[in-house]
Amino acid sequence: MVAQPVVSAVCHKLPLLGKLIPQAKAQQLALVAGGGGFLGSHFVDALLTLGYHVWVIDSWHSGNTANLAWATAHYPKHLKVLTADVSQANVVDVLQAELADSKLTLALVAHLASVASPPRYQQCPLHTLMSNINGTQFLSKLAAQHGCTFLLASTSEVYGDPHVHPQPETYWGNVNPVGARSCYDEGKRTAETLAYLAAHSPTELPYQPGFAVRIARIFNTFGPRMHPADGRVVTNLLRQALAGQPLTVYGTGQQTRSLCYVSDLIDGLLRLALLPALAVPEHTPWLAPINLGNDTPITMLALANAVAELYPTAGSVVFEPLPADDPQQRCPELSRAKTLLGYAPTTPWQQGLADTLAYWQNHVNVCTV
Ligand SMILES: NC(=O)c1ccc[n+]([C@@H]2O[C@H](COP(=O)([O-])OP(=O)(O)OC[C@H]3O[C@@H](n4cnc5c(N)ncnc54)[C@H](O)[C@@H]3O)[C@@H](O)[C@H]2O)c1
Repeated sequence: MVAQPVVSAVCHKLPLLGKLIPQAKAQQLALVAGGGGFLGSHFVDALLTLGYHVWVIDSWHSGNTANLAWATAHYPKHLKVLTADVSQANVVDVLQAELADSKLTLALVAHLASVASPPRYQQCPLHTLMSNINGTQFLSKLAAQHGCTFLLASTSEVYGDPHVHPQPETYWGNVNPVGARSCYDEGKRTAETLAYLAAHSPTELPYQPGFAVRIARIFNTFGPRMHPADGRVVTNLLRQALAGQPLTVYGTGQQTRSLCYVSDLIDGLLRLALLPALAVPEHTPWLAPINLGNDTPITMLALANAVAELYPTAGSVVFEPLPADDPQQRCPELSRAKTLLGYAPTTPWQQGLADTLAYWQNHVNVCTV
């Protein structure tokens, strides 16, 4: 009898995992750049559960080795952690040398290596820009040479301050090229262009058969392992709750966000990276970008009230003036993900919030960062 793989608490919620486990092939390698971060580490857990060997590449700008504790404990023989910076040209040489010494077949290169939290990437804007630009150029080239899938973690920020709601993939966005967020937003937009060129310019950028380019435009995602100083609404409210402080709501709190629980997002990434994409003609590696997230809007007041209910020692809700650049709504249009990938977020945000709070309560030290 084949032993059942060990599955992490977040991965237990993945509807696709059980279907993919029987397809797992021995000696297949997935490289996950940014695998020490919030999303990357859950993606690593899922790939290990599926039987992949996983090499994490991380510069530790915003990641944490503690995020890989579950993977290290349960899959020590299948996991390798390399400290390297994907914005530096030597990353390809380092990886090629490691690959030459191994008997593994490279099946997936996933690029999640970018600081994602606005206050944190604004502390290293040039590094953020180049992690997205150089990282995409170097890692897509590696995938092209090995004839495997290149998965780029892009973002809803490519839509900037959108004029269209909800945002479909066909919307080209409203982005400021010279502002505090430009290093991230324009870095991702250029990364998408580079991924597009890797799939469309075979004379300049030759690729082996099997090369595939997949771009996930990820919308606001939350869950265990997200950094407490992330600066976004869920972490801000949970931090305030755990510190017994008042919960800040801006404006009337009627502005909405669409928050995706991490298991749903990882399910989407797996579908994009591993399922044969039905609509892709065989002669091209290209599949146009796909939105991933949750399309259920939540008012910020409802979110704050839910945090107060979950954590009764939190202070009461206080209202502060709406910041000038606070968008009224942001929501993904998910019909492409639903049609092409069979993707459908299933975790109610209230459940995700409770799971995230429980994680933080058990990891008190992360809340003091
Ligand atoms: N979390 C979200 O809601 C969200 C939304 C949209 C897009 N994304 C994208 O998903 C990816 C992962 O986001 P996250 O929330 O897990 O962020 P994170 O900051 O937790 O993880 C990013 C990881 O990449 C590493 N890293 C950064 N620059 C690097 C470099 N040059 N070389 C190697 N490693 C590097 C960091 O140390 C960290 O471990 C990012 O590309 C981000 O832009 C995330």
